Amino acid sequence: MTPMPATTTPDPTPAELIAGRPHLAMHAMDGLLIDEVPLNAIADITGTPVWVYSASSIRRRYRMLVGALSAAGVETHIHYAVKANDRLAVLRLLAAEGAGADVVSEGELRRACEAGIPAGNIVFSGVGKTEREVRFALIQGIAQINVESAEELEMLSAIATATGHTAQVALRINPDVDAGTHAKITTGRAQDKFGIPYADAAALYRRAAALPGIQPVGLAAHIGSQILSLAPYRAAFGRLAELTRALRADGLPVRVIDCGGGLGIPYRDEPAPLPAALAGAIRSALRDLDAGVLIEPGRWLVGPAGVLLSSVILAKQTQGGRFVVLDAAMNDLVRPAMYDAWHGIVPVSPVDAVAAPAPADVVGPVCESGDTFARDRLLPPLTPGARVAILDAGAYGSVMSSSYNARLPAAEVMVDGSNWSVIRQREALADLWRGERVPHWLK
Ligand SMILES: Cc1ncc(COP(=O)(O)O)c(C=O)c1O
Repeated sequence: MTPMPATTTPDPTPAELIAGRPHLAMHAMDGLLIDEVPLNAIADITGTPVWVYSASSIRRRYRMLVGALSAAGVETHIHYAVKANDRLAVLRLLAAEGAGADVVSEGELRRACEAGIPAGNIVFSGVGKTEREVRFALIQGIAQINVESAEELEMLSAIATATGHTAQVALRINPDVDAGTHAKITTGRAQDKFGIPYADAAALYRRAAALPGIQPVGLAAHIGSQILSLAPYRAAFGRLAELTRALRADGLPVRVIDCGGGLGIPYRDEPAPLPAALAGAIRSALRDLDAGVLIEPGRWLVGPAGVLLSSVILAKQTQGGRFVVLDAAMNDLVRPAMYDAWHGIVPVSPVDAVAAPAPADVVGPVCESGDTFARDRLLPPLTPGARVAILDAGAYGSVMSSSYNARLPAAEVMVDGSNWSVIRQREALADLWRGERVPHWLK
């Protein structure tokens, strides 16, 4: 996935990056805008670092996806993968568009319900659901549980029976398909921990049909994230279709096919399939099966809609090169350190945006060399206090942040046209040790 150093073409310029993102614009006086709001106006009030999400961008992308699916004649229900960005405001926005949710923990389920997505519109995925989580989900009236192992199926049957519920179950199969993405986010190869081995799925489906408290409704697959090619999707959907036919031939009902998430986005300038192409792949594989289709997109809906707005602490020149040190760090956005991910970095000031650039490493203040957002990035002279926006940070950004180096989680803001609001406040430093106790025997 978008490795940081292994590219040969020149990086896109800030102007090119902005041109490819309809919610961003460079204003001659106000600098970088998100929707109609100057990022400087937000930073002046909230301070930095701060995450900023464009509601209009999320809405536009959701509608584009719905439009592509319906244009392809694929009746598909969208279950937003909450893990990509679980903020209540983001969930509420998507709920208002009609999205359901895909969750992987009780916490995500509670968040989605809190934001107004009813449990009856939520799918529960995940390789290690606890008994407590499953019980809670059943009591809430969860729409579907995607079961990933024989062990989980037996546990679910016992809990459903004990609580007097019937669990609607899809079996998540592992289709043994390499999604061609970063090794840390590929999930559909036989050696990955996810799903039920394809060869075991038919027998387990039969078992599910015989178990009390279980109603098998269909099949699911999710082969990875930041997928940039349709071929792995086609292979996975083909396996889902093949298994559906085999199960039906055996007299077993398969009403639902959950195609997972994973649709990738261009972080740099990589070609990425459009929703229409994904819709076409779903249609070709599943159209004659007359099944309800679900998808679980996360990154594609919210990734491009967010920026991480940060200020320059200092710029230093050493024999090793030029370093621009930001007040954001790997504890905020871990993707470059964790996945070697490339993110666009755009100066916020209109003057900086047109000044002559020179290469710099863009780093954070955390005590690790991996705390590097970009290497040899062409940037203008940036003096302390200058602001930059790290682009495409709306997915797997704030949700993966930590308080490493006793750093506070950044505040979060949502913009919609000319309106904006803080959707998550910056905490106080003392909040970092609020739940901690020093044992009496150390006092
Ligand atoms: C089961 C499941 N569904 C959906 C997603 C969403 O993936 P993405 O954000 O790449 O669309 C994930 C994340 O990897 C997942 O694990």
